[in-house]
Amino acid sequence: MRIVDRTPGIAAGRFAARRARILEDLGPSALVVPAGPSRLKNGDTEYRFRPDSEFLWLTGWGEPEAVLVLRGHAAEDRCVLFVPPRVPEAELWTGMRLGVDGACAELGADAAFPVDEMDSRLADLLDGAEHVYVRLGREPALDRIVVATLGSARARASRTGGRPVGVLDPGLLLDEPRLVKDEDELALIRTAAALTVEGFRAALPRVAAGVGEWEIQAALEGTFLAGGAWGPAFGTIVAGGAHACTLHYTRNDARLPQDGWVLIDAGAEVAGYAGDITRALPVTGRGTPAQRDLHDVVREARDAALAVARPGATIDDVERAVRDRLEAGLVELGLASRADAEQRRARLGRLFPHKSGHWLGLDVHDVGLYRVHGAARTLTPGMVFTVEPGLYVPGDDEQAPPELRGVGIRLEDDVLITAEGCENLTAALPMDVDGLIALREGGTA
Ligand code: GLY
Ligand code: MN
Repeated sequence: MRIVDRTPGIAAGRFAARRARILEDLGPSALVVPAGPSRLKNGDTEYRFRPDSEFLWLTGWGEPEAVLVLRGHAAEDRCVLFVPPRVPEAELWTGMRLGVDGACAELGADAAFPVDEMDSRLADLLDGAEHVYVRLGREPALDRIVVATLGSARARASRTGGRPVGVLDPGLLLDEPRLVKDEDELALIRTAAALTVEGFRAALPRVAAGVGEWEIQAALEGTFLAGGAWGPAFGTIVAGGAHACTLHYTRNDARLPQDGWVLIDAGAEVAGYAGDITRALPVTGRGTPAQRDLHDVVREARDAALAVARPGATIDDVERAVRDRLEAGLVELGLASRADAEQRRARLGRLFPHKSGHWLGLDVHDVGLYRVHGAARTLTPGMVFTVEPGLYVPGDDEQAPPELRGVGIRLEDDVLITAEGCENLTAALPMDVDGLIALREGGTA
């Protein structure tokens, strides 16, 4: 049997190995993972389909409406796929489908059925499983079948000991293995990071007063697509002036101001894997000394995070390193009081209202607990996360020096924990103000 490598860069055997591991972890339970529906934008026009990350991680493939069922309780047909059937009239419009035969021959499913047989077959496939791992609330059609299966098991429980007895969240099984990336995944994340750097290098020379935020977005996303990305990994943020104080500003419909700064937060999605970089720089000129100091404090918070990120450290150590540098910086910048620790901490909460980063992978805010049984997660090689300190001074902040009001700085890199320490996957893009200005001016810093 030939198993086609569906996600470029990830060997087909990886998916079979992941499914085998999850089947083992399932014990006598079953897992149901939908690839996701196709969604109408309007009339008969669909949004571009992006398979669910769990489905992608387990199959390397994805067509709308497909559903994977792993049956830990069964002796045979342990890996079952429901797939859109081959229909020439439909394939004429939207392209060739894998089909039932392809699901077995190319993806290695033990059995496959057309999706329109799910109603009649899924309950039987789940019958006898102790629990069903399924994300209730995501797919109403699937929910109905699972709930009905639980109901009929309960109805016969007193006579035959009916199962399944309950529903559990698939993240309990899938999040941990997804948190530590394998070599193939790391190669794709590296490509996403490199392509994101390339996008910034293409976009920064376009930064100028009066240029539309959307034009910077176009330069970024055009580079991503030209480089082979699926597109942006999340809504690109190009925030001129005080727009930078809106953390997820994605309107990108204003023109860059003459005297302000611009914050750019973007990432390429390569074979499902995300890059995620943020930089901030003056739109024109070199920024005032106070503004540059603000930028330096945020960059030094990034440096502090990289200095502690290594195997054995915890994700809280990284968070603390960022917060300590930012908190001290608030005093240096005249944004908080040296004498009043409570006021200082309150100011930090107001001016840095998010965490110092997030796991990165198939989801831009990737899966994985930050605390395990109440204790901060210990970092191990293969974990990838962003470091993204920021300080956002609202335009009406009367405690702030006037030239800092309405300036938002966030600086973000993608970091891999290695055996020795950590590697900054996005180090090829300068972060310091002068390096960024050099790129804006067409240099090659
Ligand atoms: N870069 C977007 C985010 O982390 O939310
Ligand atoms: Mn991020």
